[in-house]
Amino acid sequence: MDNDSSSRIVADLREWIASAAPGARLPSTRTLAARYGASPVTVQKALRTLAAQGMVESRPGVGTFVRAIRVARPNDYGWQTAALGSPRNRAPQLSTALRTAPNDVIALHSGYPDRELLPERLVRSAFTRAARSDAAVNRPPAAGLPELQAWFAAELATATPAGTTPPAPGDVVVFPGSQSGLGTVFRALVGAGRPLLVESPTYWGAILAAAQAGVQVVPVPSGARGPDPEELARAFERTGARAFYAQPNFANPTGARWAPDLADRVLGTVRRHGAFLIEDDWAHDFGIDADPVPIAARDDAGHVVYLRSLTKSVSPAVRIAGVVARGPARTRVLADAQAESMYVSGILQTAALDVVTQPAWRTHLRNLRHQLAARRDLLIASLREHAPTARLEAVPQGGLNIWVRLPDATDLARLVRDCESDGVLVAPGGEWFPAEPTGAYLRLNYSGPNPGAFPDGAHAVGRALARQRTR
Ligand SMILES: Cc1ncc(COP(=O)(O)O)c(C=O)c1O
Repeated sequence: MDNDSSSRIVADLREWIASAAPGARLPSTRTLAARYGASPVTVQKALRTLAAQGMVESRPGVGTFVRAIRVARPNDYGWQTAALGSPRNRAPQLSTALRTAPNDVIALHSGYPDRELLPERLVRSAFTRAARSDAAVNRPPAAGLPELQAWFAAELATATPAGTTPPAPGDVVVFPGSQSGLGTVFRALVGAGRPLLVESPTYWGAILAAAQAGVQVVPVPSGARGPDPEELARAFERTGARAFYAQPNFANPTGARWAPDLADRVLGTVRRHGAFLIEDDWAHDFGIDADPVPIAARDDAGHVVYLRSLTKSVSPAVRIAGVVARGPARTRVLADAQAESMYVSGILQTAALDVVTQPAWRTHLRNLRHQLAARRDLLIASLREHAPTARLEAVPQGGLNIWVRLPDATDLARLVRDCESDGVLVAPGGEWFPAEPTGAYLRLNYSGPNPGAFPDGAHAVGRALARQRTR
């Protein structure tokens, strides 16, 4: 049966139903089959889908009818206002990076790579194998499948210098994505009401997870070269914080990759303060001109808690990440993970491990590097041509984003709206600041669909900027 034609029929009939009167009769299966050039089986499948969605009802022997929608009185949820009180934090409901975009829009806002950048064939066959394996019916251990734990540990061990003890498989806890890992690490190692140092700007999801965990976020200025080490040392002294969340490689959003001497200084400061560095290695698979070297590989004293995600590089459908923590920290992380979700689906873990252990995975990563380089360079060149007042502080050596500074007087909200009405989605930089933004920034992602449209996207940004000057 053709799933695509069935979905096409469902989509088309939904439109028809939207303007039809309740109780209207749908054309017969035979008529629909002729209209859509599909088999009766495909049409019936589409009708069953519509019935399951509550759009139509079929009366056997009579036909299929648009379901009469019973308009009930509007529900009154006012009592919940009193029951819930004010929210603890007023975090934004949905980050711009998570917005889904219609096909015809140029999407420079998104966080997850387009399908053409994914190892789709590897993912599909990994799922087929996983579905046939015991993983489909077994409960995996709470910390993760031992083979996947071993893979995460071995990946980090490849960067471990001589004289440092590499992480053991047992130091790894598998999570359903890094976002979940961040929530756990902030709860388990920082705790509600306690200070957590973060780069500013930093990943919006980390800001959100910190707010949800009730930790008190303390911004440390950061930029194209990473955080200011002196400000970091002062912030540790001032606040007594015991943890610093950072992205030393291809930071989201700045693209910063720390130089080795900065990495040394930060690690030294963290050790001196008896603190943790929470290292988010989200872009490990997205090196372009450089390969990421995790700081965690150089620490065997348990100061660095390391997060490595596979969600973006394997597939957004395979939400898998590994957290490497040693000593009592690892025990606390695992305890929180268990309380939160007990264990991660074995099917997902098996599929993820299958993908990253295929020889073709390495080939995929090599190709990906070239594709990302071409996309990044095209977007940057397009901006330079069409939006010359948008300034790039540094060309990122990896990752998926560029971080663009706009003229100070820019009304960012209006610019984003203007771009959107021009068919281009961009993410306003404010979402990446834990406190007030220090300038007008845009985060532009070059891993979205249709890179051929990047020049048009840059043109729209340029037009929106020019419009601000003339208003
Ligand atoms: C810096 C950073 N950390 C973590 C995540 C979340 O990763 P995951 O999809 O594995 O939850 C993202 C996703 O955008 C990210 O940019």
